[in-house]
Amino acid sequence: MNKVLSIVTILVFVNCNYQEDKSIKAAVVSARIEASNIGIEVIAKGGNAFDAMIATDLALSVCYPNAGNLAGGGFLVYRTSDGSFGSLDYREKAPSLSSRDMYLDSEGNVIEGISTLGGLAIGVPGTIAGLFEVHEKFGTLPWNELIQPAIDLATNGYVVTKKQSNSFKNKKEEFIKVNGENTFYAKNYDEGDIIINLPLANTLKLIQQNGKAGFYKGINAQRLTKRVKNAGGIITEEDLKNYSPVWRDPVQFQYKELTITSMGPPSSGGVCLGQMLQMIEPFDIKKYGHNSVESIQLMVEAERRTYADRSEYLGDPDFVNIPQSELMDSTYLTNRMKSFNWDNASLSSDINPGKVIINESEETTHYSIIDKEGNAVSVTTTLNGSYGSKVYVEDGGYFLNNEMDDFSSKPGVPNMFGLLGSEANSILPGKRMLSSMTPTIVDKNKKLYMILGTPGGSTIITSVFQTILNAYEFDMGMQESVNSARFHHQWMPDVIILEPKQFDSDLISNLNNKGYNIEERLSRIIGRVDAIMIDDNGIITTGADPRGDDSSSTLR
Ligand code: GLY
Repeated sequence: MNKVLSIVTILVFVNCNYQEDKSIKAAVVSARIEASNIGIEVIAKGGNAFDAMIATDLALSVCYPNAGNLAGGGFLVYRTSDGSFGSLDYREKAPSLSSRDMYLDSEGNVIEGISTLGGLAIGVPGTIAGLFEVHEKFGTLPWNELIQPAIDLATNGYVVTKKQSNSFKNKKEEFIKVNGENTFYAKNYDEGDIIINLPLANTLKLIQQNGKAGFYKGINAQRLTKRVKNAGGIITEEDLKNYSPVWRDPVQFQYKELTITSMGPPSSGGVCLGQMLQMIEPFDIKKYGHNSVESIQLMVEAERRTYADRSEYLGDPDFVNIPQSELMDSTYLTNRMKSFNWDNASLSSDINPGKVIINESEETTHYSIIDKEGNAVSVTTTLNGSYGSKVYVEDGGYFLNNEMDDFSSKPGVPNMFGLLGSEANSILPGKRMLSSMTPTIVDKNKKLYMILGTPGGSTIITSVFQTILNAYEFDMGMQESVNSARFHHQWMPDVIILEPKQFDSDLISNLNNKGYNIEERLSRIIGRVDAIMIDDNGIITTGADPRGDDSSSTLR
């Protein structure tokens, strides 16, 4: 334990779940204290927010293996201190041998499970290429130095938390099913145990020594493709070699005095967030009160209409034409809300037909960073499901994603998040699967105001939606905005999911009386938002979600 603590410099920063201090100069908020510390240490050493991104991301790949990753993908939305915005898409891609109907049997029915568990579920990973792309454009410290803390963490170990121990134990059977009894995570890891992962340290060293090629070519590429093949998958060394990330224009829109910048397609996050906020803008939501019947109704009706559009129109912009400006047009959005009335719930079946179920929890991870110069970085990265496809590269020390499930296996059949899709999100070689990840940056009157995002599959967009409104409309501080109880509606199934035991029975019966179906008993926590706020006086505060082990590190 002492050894582990000794790898963390404790002189320059303070960690806790809420910090408000005029003298905070920089902050990193992520799913793990180790990763937040490593990120802030990079800034303390003179690195910028992009350097900190690289070090934080690599640290998460070590100590948060359910979602932190080398073999997943993600999105970066940034704002430089001079007010320029941009975004990087390093989402996974469908392998060259993939095909539209690869998850269907001879009768055209979806074969259950193969898009989520095992080799066929794996998309061509984008994370390492994405981090290199960021380094090339914005990095100031040598790559070698940015990766070293993750190598140290994998070599010296990190302490298993209670939540993490439960997570390992919950997935143990699947780890064994996919990888055999001797797989690294077949062991019972208890709270307080230290996990040392030397194969992962060696993979990181390969990347340290050989750059991007250390992952996409040579020994690692051979290991990865061999493991994929053994697990029944189709990724080739050529697929790895050909992977490249894409700088894209982010989605940007106005909500009152806020300018909101978020990820565009192939994520649905930015477009959907824009639709929701603009649909509710004509209403005085502040007047209705936080989590009141009226504000829940209004937001749910906006969510219902948005997710219906998501299922029809969104996909990879390199493959499909997305009517983005039409979807975000204010007249269109006003018209969409014309069928809403305060007395009765709209019916999703009247808006568009479909039938789905919401099922298992999902894992992705988000971190937010501000540096001393005011550069802001908002990153959401994922393996998709918890530990991705569960396929583990034993000699490389990492899990492979199951991002292929984010495609629509068959129009009208839900994915693991209960989301429906159309042809726009069908599988094609080289295409990126539609995402809900919503890394977001908010300006208020042209000054940086908030950096936020969350995991949560289909609930990502609605969690970001609520957190922005909590802060801006309901005057909550950053931590309170993050802590506050959440709800979610995604058009299909036609049900409002409430976080358990957070909403009172009068409110629930009132909504029931208006025709809303409520699911509370079987629901789960919604999202784990990690966020930073900069108030009108330039004071920085952080919000690390207590639903996870999330933690802020700050530099004073
Ligand atoms: N895999 C979750 C998402 O991209 O939305």
